[in-house]
Amino acid sequence: MSTAARTVTPTPAGETDDWWRDAVVYQIYPRSFADADGDGMGDLPGITDRLGALADLGVDAIWLSPFYRSPQADAGYDVADYREVDPLFGTLADFDALLARAHDLGLRVIVDLVPNHSSDRHRWFVDALAAAPGSPERDRYLFRDGLGPDGSEPPNNWQSVFGGPAWNRVAGPDGAPGQWYLHLFDPHQPDFNWDNAEVRTEFEAVLRFWLDRGVDGFRVDVAHGLVKQAGLPDFVADPALGTLGFAVPTAGDEDADEEDTVGAVGESDKGDGGDGDDKGDGGSSGAPAAEGVSHLGPMWDQDGIHEIYRDWRRVLDKYSPPRMLVAEAWVQPLTRLSRYVRSDEMHQAFNFDFLEAPWDAAVLRAVISRSLAVNTSVGATTTWVLSNHDVVRHPSRFGLAGGRWRGGIGADDPQPDAELGLRRGRAATLTMLALPGSAYLYQGEELGLPEHTTLPDSARQDPTWQRSGHTERGRDGCRVPIPWESAAPALGFSSTGKSWLPQPESFARLARDRQQDDPASTLSMYRTALRSRREHGLGRGTLSWVRDFGTDVVAFATQGVTVVTNLGRSPVALPPGGVLLASAALPGDGTLPPDTAVWIG
Ligand code: GLC
Repeated sequence: MSTAARTVTPTPAGETDDWWRDAVVYQIYPRSFADADGDGMGDLPGITDRLGALADLGVDAIWLSPFYRSPQADAGYDVADYREVDPLFGTLADFDALLARAHDLGLRVIVDLVPNHSSDRHRWFVDALAAAPGSPERDRYLFRDGLGPDGSEPPNNWQSVFGGPAWNRVAGPDGAPGQWYLHLFDPHQPDFNWDNAEVRTEFEAVLRFWLDRGVDGFRVDVAHGLVKQAGLPDFVADPALGTLGFAVPTAGDEDADEEDTVGAVGESDKGDGGDGDDKGDGGSSGAPAAEGVSHLGPMWDQDGIHEIYRDWRRVLDKYSPPRMLVAEAWVQPLTRLSRYVRSDEMHQAFNFDFLEAPWDAAVLRAVISRSLAVNTSVGATTTWVLSNHDVVRHPSRFGLAGGRWRGGIGADDPQPDAELGLRRGRAATLTMLALPGSAYLYQGEELGLPEHTTLPDSARQDPTWQRSGHTERGRDGCRVPIPWESAAPALGFSSTGKSWLPQPESFARLARDRQQDDPASTLSMYRTALRSRREHGLGRGTLSWVRDFGTDVVAFATQGVTVVTNLGRSPVALPPGGVLLASAALPGDGTLPPDTAVWIG
């Protein structure tokens, strides 16, 4: 077997306690993981009770989506008090108990931080509404006068991610229409003004509050949004960027020429190495980008953002054992994203190029090569992710022609092929878990859960559904409470049978108890893969492409293991060696069927 001459090498670990570099992190969506008090909403005690299942699965860490005090206008991503637990989820004492239990089990805990916006019920916003235009209270947010003779037009043309204008008008002290405030998301989520020193000081204090309690890191929500272009200029539409100011990539955007991609690895060795230079280098991922130019509009990925993360890094670096930051930044191209993970900024950023990649071998190879090269160029580890609480679950995505990953699926939309989707989903997972770097799993994917694609529209709670004028179903379909016991009320999610979103019928046969002892189950595949990954040190490896299998196959060698994934339509011959793990039963004739991945050791 020949391996490519050029090897993509992530930076080797320099210290033993940089645990995040190869960690498998399991995302818990607290609303839907486990409900201890039976009100139909998941909670912190529910999570604590069930943590043993995650230690058994073999993950290294958990990331908790927000559980802070919140009116829940955006399922907790609208925070009213950054230092309090919402009574829906429990108390601070419940959080401390969860953290202690997790640490006892050897699991690190990452919490969500939402710094781009607060809830409109946050004390500061309430104060801002009561204060006059131009006051220090208003300066913590982005209030502006409207345009037109009577100020009745929004200050600029920006659109909210959830649909409709990104501005809302408030009443003045006399009840007459007054200023407007910016909300890149829901109107209940006013954007902070990060040019305001008080905002900066406050968030550093919030970081310390949770660090002092013992958390191991933060997932930073909308990390690319905090700083807006000075003067808040109109967004000048570029057909490539759409109305929201960011491009939604398609298969055609990817450069499928692998030789070029590997060539870029050599280039990337000259990277800036985290020297704090904000020039940017543009242009190695997706559609061509001009030198130093982001693919985004004036509300995203502004250069000034990096100063904030350098300040935060200084806060974290005072703690021992080391803590980490992972960015949720929908930034393109990858070279721009890599600026968030320079050595004096964050430790990781989610790799959404990988999540968005369709079931296409050339695209996958290109994304993997670029991801490793670009992150290596700044000394960072690469992350891999297939599902989260914002996108269609990957087994459903891969079962749908065109692979729709955003916006949800409704009962009257084309329905995914569940069997094909799960088959591809398992193969994608097995490929991901062998890649050098760190992997993020979303609760329920270890059970092979599909998206709930027939959720009644009347049950939907994601603001996207309303704000898009009922054109986008939104994200409820991936947020449905997960099944634990097939015969229990609410499938073991809550003892009373209550569930804030109804569970689909398909969840019963996918419940954890049905899969626990079945060696062919998706749960067993995840468990075995995580154990084997640890034994072989896969996350810490380097990657060499193996080119023996033709264009429809993704194959690489790492840490003495050869990983082969067949994305084509015909079987391919398996390489010599023992099969450590396969994503589906193998026919036993020495071939690897379509839509199957295998680890050979
Ligand atoms: C992030 C979260 C998403 C939330 C949005 C606004 O993208 O993942 O769930 O709606 O930020 O906070």
